[in-house]
Amino acid sequence: MRSQSKNSMITLKNIDKDNYRECVNLSVAEEQVKFVVANAKSLAKAYVYYETAHPLAVYADGAMVGFVLYRDLQAEKNYVIDQMMTDKRYQGKGYGREAVRELFRQMRERGQFGRVCVCCCVANKAAIKFFRGFGFEQEGEEEAGEIVFGLDLVSYKCDPSK
Ligand SMILES: CC(C)(COP(=O)(O)OP(=O)(O)OC[C@H]1O[C@@H](n2cnc3c(N)ncnc32)[C@H](O)[C@@H]1OP(=O)(O)O)[C@@H](O)C(=O)NCCC(=O)NCCS
Repeated sequence: MRSQSKNSMITLKNIDKDNYRECVNLSVAEEQVKFVVANAKSLAKAYVYYETAHPLAVYADGAMVGFVLYRDLQAEKNYVIDQMMTDKRYQGKGYGREAVRELFRQMRERGQFGRVCVCCCVANKAAIKFFRGFGFEQEGEEEAGEIVFGLDLVSYKCDPSK
C-alpha cells in the first residue's frame, strides 16, 4: 500500500492502539469544521460497523497527515467514503490526492465492488473540486444540502500529471 507522491511516500495504515490518539488529535481549519465530523466520531462509527469499516491513517514521510474511513456497503454494492480529511497543517500539498489514489488501489485490490461513493455538503466547494478531480460525478439530486458523488473504480485511470 505505497505510492510515490511528488516528493513523499504516502502510506495508509490501519488505526490501532498505537496511533488512534494521534488520529483523534488531527484537525481541519476552523472554516472546514462544519463540513466534517471529528475523527473521534468517525472512529466510533468504525467501531460500531467494525465488520465492514476500514479506518486508515494517512502517513507522509512517517508523519500522520490525515485520516480516511471507508466502508463496504453490501446492500448498495459499493464502497462509501465516510471520512476524508487532511490535517490543517498538511493541506494543499497533494497528500489528500495521493491518499485517495492509494485508497482506490486498495479497493480495487480487494475487488469486492467496482464503485465508490462519497457524500459532500453542497457548500464544501473545495471538497467537491477535490473529488471531481478524480472523476467523481454527481448521483441524483441534492438532498438536505448534500450531494452524493460516485466513481466507477473499474474504469478509473490515475492521471499522474495532476
Ligand atoms: C478536501 C481535503 C481532504 C483535501 O485535502 P488536501 O490534502 O489539502 O488536498 P490536495 O493537496 O491533495 O489537493 C488535491 C486537489 O484538490 C483540490 N483542492 C484541495 N484543496 C482545495 C481548496 N482549498 N480549494 C479548492 N480546491 C482544493 C485541488 O484541485 C487540488 O489540486 P491542485 O492543488 O493541483 O489544484 C482537505 O481540504 C480537507 O481535509 N478538508 C476538510 C475536510 C473535508 O471537507 N473533507 C471532505 C468531506 S466530504
